[in-house]
Amino acid sequence: ANEEQNVGNVKQQLAKLFEVALKSTVPNEPDVDPLIAICTAKFGDYQCNNAMGLWSRIKGKPNEFRGPPSVGQTIMRNLPQSEMVESCSVAGPGFVNVILSRNWIAKSLQKMLNDGIDTWAPQLQIKSAVVDFSSPNIAKEMHVGHLRSTIIGDTLARMLEFSHVDVLRRNHVGDWGTQDLHAFVRLLRIGVGNLLMKNTLKCTYEDEIQDSVIGCFREKITHVHCAWLNVVVEFNLSSMFGMLIEFLFEKFPNWEDVNETAVGDLQAFYKASKLRFDSDPDFKEKAQKAVVRLQGMGADCEISRSEFNRVYQLLGVHLEEKGESFYNSYIPEVLKELTSKNLVEDSQGARVIFIEGFNIPLIVVKSDGGYNYASTDLAALWYRLNEEKAEWIIYVTDVGQQQHFDMVFRAAKRAGWLPVEDNMYPKVSHVGFGLVLGEDGKRFRTRNTEVVRLVDLLDEAKSRSKTALIERGKDVEWTEEELEQTAEAVGYGAVKYADLKNNRLTNYTFNFDQMLNDKGNTAVYLLYAHARICSIIRKSGKDIEELKKTGTIALDHGDERTLGLHLLQFSEIVEEACTNLLPNVLCEYLYNLSENFTKFYSNCQVVGSAEETSRLLLCEATATVMRKCFYLLGIVPVYKI
Ligand code: ARG
Repeated sequence: ANEEQNVGNVKQQLAKLFEVALKSTVPNEPDVDPLIAICTAKFGDYQCNNAMGLWSRIKGKPNEFRGPPSVGQTIMRNLPQSEMVESCSVAGPGFVNVILSRNWIAKSLQKMLNDGIDTWAPQLQIKSAVVDFSSPNIAKEMHVGHLRSTIIGDTLARMLEFSHVDVLRRNHVGDWGTQDLHAFVRLLRIGVGNLLMKNTLKCTYEDEIQDSVIGCFREKITHVHCAWLNVVVEFNLSSMFGMLIEFLFEKFPNWEDVNETAVGDLQAFYKASKLRFDSDPDFKEKAQKAVVRLQGMGADCEISRSEFNRVYQLLGVHLEEKGESFYNSYIPEVLKELTSKNLVEDSQGARVIFIEGFNIPLIVVKSDGGYNYASTDLAALWYRLNEEKAEWIIYVTDVGQQQHFDMVFRAAKRAGWLPVEDNMYPKVSHVGFGLVLGEDGKRFRTRNTEVVRLVDLLDEAKSRSKTALIERGKDVEWTEEELEQTAEAVGYGAVKYADLKNNRLTNYTFNFDQMLNDKGNTAVYLLYAHARICSIIRKSGKDIEELKKTGTIALDHGDERTLGLHLLQFSEIVEEACTNLLPNVLCEYLYNLSENFTKFYSNCQVVGSAEETSRLLLCEATATVMRKCFYLLGIVPVYKI
């Protein structure tokens, strides 16, 4: 029973105690949820803020109280005995302040050291989530905005995963932008098993190609179409496909109309286009241009994909690509459903959804009949809710896309896909972020190029941190490998932390000197602090694993207690950062932790003192929590510096 009482973070455990106290204070009031907060004043560690609200609920009815303070007094008297609580007091208009027991704090830390920090994982209401992040556009440059999305999205995914949520990390790449690709893939799909394919592809790879084409039906087309373009090049079928595509464009200006029945017999279709090709030089030229476009696109796709992957690899970010094209085949059905619910109407040749409070409608079918970003997002949302059964869907993009998402979400609520209340599940959230600025206060670019190549940016962070490491640690013996790994951890960590530490909605200025400074609120400072704690433990010569089992923590010094309590608040901070989608909350916690440690370390002698064992354990607990913070922020800790 005692074990059960100790589940959840400090706030939740206190809430359980106050729930009992509130019940006996006002037995006739239903649903009184305990309001517990960290104390802002010096009177306590936590406070219960129910008295005022309760008073306004009961003051009209017969009761024994004389106002909020007396309600507070009674709540305090009714608080059950607990080893958590050292003392209580009532302040102001009935706030019940709680001072936690040092012993209990110490015991909780010790339990964490022995059972592992994962026992401090937040307990969330949900089991599954989609985090839609990074999401660059194929055949275009991945820019710093996508870098922010990648960094923020990865942290949010990590926090949710730590909290035992199954997270689908979705890279919603813009891969479906061009008509050529649409038409091309469609043509291939139609070509399955058709004579046309058999007659023209007289090569040993015929089976393979057919398999891939059939695969298009089952698998994501996203992954196949670039592969297909390679096939085109490889088998020198390009001119034929250029011809077919151009002919297709001619017959079906709107590629959405391209389907098996409309195209009919592919042999006949092929013959007709061949006739056109041979007889009309203009057409021939267009067809050849289509081939060039197609080949260019194939190459661009491959280049940008490998560039994206390089960035993900450097940052240690894992993502699963399910690009826009994946949802394409779901759009017609989804729009049909929305139409049947009377959401979609005609407007100036387009199909749109009007949403109250917005002066422009959400366009879901363009006037040329094509689908767009919004129709794709509606289909993707439908898919995530119905096929993937996600309880929480999180979209990480720049704030500029806020209106788009607001409108998509509102449409989904009107369709009854989502509850109208924001605090109910399934839930959708747009995580917006500000711009990355350069020193000049304008949109960030590197010295001489228009765009910033992200790989170059990360390389520079690494090489700068390497220079600094060599400079600073003249007496440190590095193997080449150690130096490389440390420079990467520090360099990439610095880029990530500089992005995450500010409230994401604000613009932030990209500055290598600032982010690589070893003083102030930077990853470098924090990584150093952690490495130093590890070296204190190492140099003590004590076996820390042994101490965990045999030693005890005591928090007699004020700075020890402050540090201990701060450590214990890790769990509720992660929960807050995660539920409010604010990584900066965790950064702030980590920075304060480091400050609290510094204060403790400068006022409390560790090695060689009478309290050595306890203090070494406190060092170990600090290092453990710091490492978990690093992990959640996607930063790799270092031990030698
Ligand atoms: N590709 C888009 C862009 O670069 C971001 C996609 C975000 N996700 C989404 N489901 N719309 O702006």
